[in-house]
Amino acid sequence: MGGEDAIYRDPTQPTESRVADLLARMTLEEKIEQMHGVQREPIDHLYQTPANARLGIPGFRMVDGPRGVRAGKATAFPVGMARGASFDPDLERRVGEAIGAETSAKGGNVLLAPVVNVLRHPRWGRAQETYGEDPHHLGVMGAAFITGAQRHVVASVKHYAANSIENNRFTVSATLSERTLREIYLPHFARAVRAGVGSVMSAYNRVNGTWCGEHAQLLGEILKREWGFDGFVESDWIFGVHDTAAAALAGLDIEMPRPKVYGRRLLAAVESGEVPVAAIDDAVRRILRIMFRFGIFDRRPQLAASVVASAAHVALAREAAQKSLVLLRNENALLPLDRAVVRRIAVVGELAGRKNLGDHGSSYVSPPYVVTPLDGLQTLAPDAAIDPILSNTPSAAQLARIAGADAAIVVVGLTTKDEGEGQIAAGDRVRLELSAVQEQLICDVAAANPRTVVVLEGGSAIVVERWIERAGAVLLAWYPGMEGGYAIAEVIFGDVNPAARLPITFARGADQLPTFDNEHDDVDYDGLHGYRLADAAGFSPRFPFGFGLSYTTFAYRALALESAAPPRDGTLRATVELRNTGTRAGDEVVQLYVGCTGSRVERAPRELRAFARVRLAPGETRQVVLDVPIAELAYYDVGGRTWLVEDADYTAYIGPSSRELPLRASFRVRDV
Ligand code: BGC
Repeated sequence: MGGEDAIYRDPTQPTESRVADLLARMTLEEKIEQMHGVQREPIDHLYQTPANARLGIPGFRMVDGPRGVRAGKATAFPVGMARGASFDPDLERRVGEAIGAETSAKGGNVLLAPVVNVLRHPRWGRAQETYGEDPHHLGVMGAAFITGAQRHVVASVKHYAANSIENNRFTVSATLSERTLREIYLPHFARAVRAGVGSVMSAYNRVNGTWCGEHAQLLGEILKREWGFDGFVESDWIFGVHDTAAAALAGLDIEMPRPKVYGRRLLAAVESGEVPVAAIDDAVRRILRIMFRFGIFDRRPQLAASVVASAAHVALAREAAQKSLVLLRNENALLPLDRAVVRRIAVVGELAGRKNLGDHGSSYVSPPYVVTPLDGLQTLAPDAAIDPILSNTPSAAQLARIAGADAAIVVVGLTTKDEGEGQIAAGDRVRLELSAVQEQLICDVAAANPRTVVVLEGGSAIVVERWIERAGAVLLAWYPGMEGGYAIAEVIFGDVNPAARLPITFARGADQLPTFDNEHDDVDYDGLHGYRLADAAGFSPRFPFGFGLSYTTFAYRALALESAAPPRDGTLRATVELRNTGTRAGDEVVQLYVGCTGSRVERAPRELRAFARVRLAPGETRQVVLDVPIAELAYYDVGGRTWLVEDADYTAYIGPSSRELPLRASFRVRDV
């Protein structure tokens, strides 16, 4: 039994034959043993599932997470939200590949990332881990990460589904309509499945009253049957699953990190007939399939330790930071600062000298070093007189020094004290604004020196109304990772032309946002949040979704559709002529939104359907081609339980943000 010549041990055999052969050799106890982790605390930084020596099953070695590997020293990349702002799937693929490589080098074979949850409200404590508010953008970025990471390990996309609040994450139920679920909270998970993701982590919360780890519709019906996901689902840690039979029958394949409701209870449930052996076989088949498919069973060698925080990965962390910084405001072209003219620079605020990389919850990463904004500015302006005033309450004498400088750079924002994972870190934000002390700091510095640049750190949208008009320039740095300080300085001095865009709406206040309730156990999620809400309600947010400035300018012209009546099973192909009309090279994020007029269902006025980040030399003109599969314009028809592309009038809008869409073209969808 299980001898050297067994089919399952032969790597040249088809995966499904190996799975069937191995499954047939396993006892019920052995199968059930594969369906849970071994213990609550990680071993060598890795959460493990059991090895089976008799049959040579190696077990999984799982590790977080979305901004780098949480295992000893590792490269700390900018957080997911920052990388979302890059609107650069190719960059995200490379980041995924680097984190996947480091996971392998640490002995891991499952990476607990990416996070693709919708940012419904900026107070969500884990906002920084996801990519933004829009399902299309989330899906494209998440799929890119998965493609990269899975060159080395299995990626586990999380948290499935509708996980957008921290403080009550173990109890809350999101009530949403079938349409909202399908159209807003699930498409990005479907895209992850299409990208070949090997694992899905179920969320802690409930959806329409049922725990996500026990949700037959979400797990069995939609994920596995409808989307054809053939990998495994594991629970979120410790509190993600409650009822043995409900979870097993729904399609929860692995309970992590230890057997609380699985293990002997699952065995008893099978023995009593409550859970059929077929359900166990299905789960184990999925587990084994992924072990074979990803070379885990065949002991694919782990990568060398030298890849961890290698020069190439550190350079990638810097590139990711450069491509993630969003220039929100630049009055009178205050930025970039000219090193030849700006000789004396006051660098102000506690955060200027602080390592501020983001949450200390499960997404924590410990890099070998961190470049703070002050470090970056000092290194990249070695000849300038940099005056660090690392206080949020400068004295009169310090304010006089700030007034006498050629420019002031104030670093403010959020930290792990303001936002993070629930229970083990800060949880949800209590306020949308900066602290009163920081707001006062900005006002005082700007009053002293009109050439004030605000560098803003944090994981999601910040309400800036009390001070924004006073700042000369505002650069949103997010949590920019271990090399972030260099990238900040490079943008400030113009070595890098900023091009990132907001992947979330920056509202003017809570009245422009959906309600956020992290105290009650029942919350309603409708289909309108972010730019969809702003557009539907006619709000003008402070900074719209997709917005970001550059040091150059771009002109859009000649939008052309390949067909004004593409077939239902076809693609809308839009071409636009983009020209860099400024004097610097720069990247532009071309965005295509589609709206439907006269729809029979209520829809957001416009939805993002495609985007492309393109680099243009000064004066260069480029034809940018954007494709939208017509099937993605469908709405979910609840009655018919199917997706329907309406025979209706549509408009394609193209431009640099959700609120600046200078070109439009109409089309109809016809029957083939
Ligand atoms: C988090 C997951 C994480 C897991 C393991 C949970 O509390 O919600 O995102 O992967 O812990 O650390």
